[in-house]
Amino acid sequence: MNTVEWRVMPDAGAVAAEAARRIAAAAQDALAEQAAFRIVLAGGSTPEAAYRLLAGYNADWARWHVYFGDERCLPADHAERNSRMAGRALLAEVPLPLDQVHAIAAEGDPETAAEQYARVVAAAVPFDLVLLGVGEDGHTASLFPGHAWDPEAWALAVHDAPKPPPDRISLGARALRSTRQILVLATGAGKREALARWRAGGDLPIGRVCDGRRFTVLLDEAANPG
Ligand code: 6PG
Repeated sequence: MNTVEWRVMPDAGAVAAEAARRIAAAAQDALAEQAAFRIVLAGGSTPEAAYRLLAGYNADWARWHVYFGDERCLPADHAERNSRMAGRALLAEVPLPLDQVHAIAAEGDPETAAEQYARVVAAAVPFDLVLLGVGEDGHTASLFPGHAWDPEAWALAVHDAPKPPPDRISLGARALRSTRQILVLATGAGKREALARWRAGGDLPIGRVCDGRRFTVLLDEAANPG
């Protein structure tokens, strides 16, 4: 089995369909060997279509545990929260027990929320699958270029994020790497340069998380650096 795979799909719809298929397969494989499937969901807009398709799968949802790669410091019911996007697209549509959805309390004090989530993550790792998006600057989760972060931190508060909102909670690289496999979703021409820089060995957060681990990048032609 490849440890690194770059799979170019014709368009964003094909990326979403392939991502949903792979997530469902990863869950089935994990649950054939263990009691629970632990997945870290990516935020942003790219994964939403994949989550909607995934909701149509007949998965053993009662054995899933869902975590978040990062969360925006906004009110819990704010439409721009990553947990709200995942809720709309997937979690509200499947019989996944609510107490198995481990949301980040990003509506409160960021440092306190990061400390709390670090404990949740430390008790959960290793994950079975971590989903990641990638920003046009090569960020992933809320790990941004030029920001210093403790490589040992399970979770951390982020301030002055270049992508609004400025305050966020992110899993640290250590947490995002503590997984059987990583699936990166990248679509659109805006991601092409970041992917090219990553593939050329550029020091980007997406590379610091993925390099040396088993990962697959699902990208569309528009994002393909060639
Ligand atoms: C967020 C995400 C962030 C996202 C990338 C890509 O809070 O926005 O955690 O890391 O995955 O910025 O975002 P898009 O999928 O919207 O391009």
